[in-house]
Amino acid sequence: MTSLAAIKLGGSVITSKTEYRSFRSETTASIVKALSEKFDSFALVIGGGSFGHFKSKEFGLPGKASKRTMEGAGIVHRDMSELAGLVHDSLMKRGLNAYSFSPGELMRDGIPDYAEPLRYLEAGMIPLLYGDVFASGGEFMIYSGDSIMLDLCKTGRFDKAIFFSDVDGIFDRDPKRFKDAKLMKRLSGKIDFSTSSGDVTGGMRLKHSSMLEIAKHVKEVYLINGNYPERIGDIGSEDFIGTVID
Ligand code: ATP
Ligand code: IPE
Repeated sequence: MTSLAAIKLGGSVITSKTEYRSFRSETTASIVKALSEKFDSFALVIGGGSFGHFKSKEFGLPGKASKRTMEGAGIVHRDMSELAGLVHDSLMKRGLNAYSFSPGELMRDGIPDYAEPLRYLEAGMIPLLYGDVFASGGEFMIYSGDSIMLDLCKTGRFDKAIFFSDVDGIFDRDPKRFKDAKLMKRLSGKIDFSTSSGDVTGGMRLKHSSMLEIAKHVKEVYLINGNYPERIGDIGSEDFIGTVID
């Protein structure tokens, strides 16, 4: 198997999370540049940030099908396709040929089928997948970027998973609240961090448990600060700044 990475661009990096539909085009372009210099081929997943979470919350998503959630689903799906289009443009500008998929279109009785995106990957293109809202059994559900990463990695086609977020990695405590928080450079997939002395909270708690789960299906899982995407070039060296779970 050739080395192949599944990569997620977190909504906190490619959007400004405090302003509805605010795209961080320069940051995205610099991540795409770093990716184009490091990899020939990969699958790319994008989170929602302010294109996904604002309206999901406002319209009660996820939730039972109703006039309100249907309107919300329409808005969120449209906004997420727009974000995917913006990332798509950024990839194409660097000569990276992408083909985008909404996970809603991949659902077969509520279970995602990745055969189609993988076919495009084999053909030399970059499958671009985005977190989105989809209908299932009378409800509107949200398929998050982190869940897409797990399902992609379960296909057995990838040997690395890389998450770009807005922090340097996983710390022993929230680095935004504790100035003396210590970066955990390497975590073993076998250690359940939630029961160790550290304190992973908020979105990072969920992300960390997804990363542990993903580590069962790939050799290594990385968390890198997307504001410094050039760090991807130091993967495997002593100078690497980020967290690796193996
Ligand atoms: P993304 O948008 O990249 O998917 P997210 O928005 O889902 O990320 P957040 O909910 O923003 O993720 O979670 C990342 C945040 O978690 C960081 O900005 C940080 O403030 C917080 N956090 C809490 N505990 C920790 C910890 N132990 N190590 C690192 N970050 C932590
Ligand atoms: C959310 O994707 C998609 C929607 C809300 C529709 P994520 O949950 O992966 O987004 P981020 O990366 O945390 O912003």
